[in-house]
Amino acid sequence: MIEKTLAIIKPDAVKKNVIGEIIGMITKAGFRILGMKYTRINKEQAGSFYEVHKERPFYNDLVDYMSSGPIVPIALEKENAIEDYRKLIGSTDPAQAEEGTVRKLYGESKSYNAVHGSDSVENGIIEIGFFFSKSELVLCD
Ligand code: CDP
Ligand code: MG
Repeated sequence: MIEKTLAIIKPDAVKKNVIGEIIGMITKAGFRILGMKYTRINKEQAGSFYEVHKERPFYNDLVDYMSSGPIVPIALEKENAIEDYRKLIGSTDPAQAEEGTVRKLYGESKSYNAVHGSDSVENGIIEIGFFFSKSELVLCD
């Protein structure tokens, strides 16, 4: 099934100057870019994006981190996109991530782990809608 997922290049990876490397890994893996922007979110927006984690002990730090600098949200499409993208980025904790994955290569820690990825088809659609209006999503054919 063709699925959509939301990737975000997080503030730590933007600061490391590896936006190009990460986009290269994503496109080489066969994902189609539907939309992409260089932007920044405030604490309120970060809090609402990560609402599901509100009760978790890391929530406040996560909100501070995600609003601490520019990010690059990217709407992606591919056959089996949810699972394949999560395989490409590796485990939440870069120390546990497989060799060659985005998080293994560019993540700093379980908190500062370079990239976001949607965890289900349903959330992929919801999360893309958080950053992109319909007119900002482009099909190339
Ligand atoms: O991003 P992923 O879906 O792999 O993990 P998550 O469990 O949905 O957590 C969302 C984000 O919260 C992670 O990517 C980390 O940036 C952060 N996090 C954290 O700071 N400490 C944890 N113990 C777990 C997650
Ligand atoms: Mg998640």
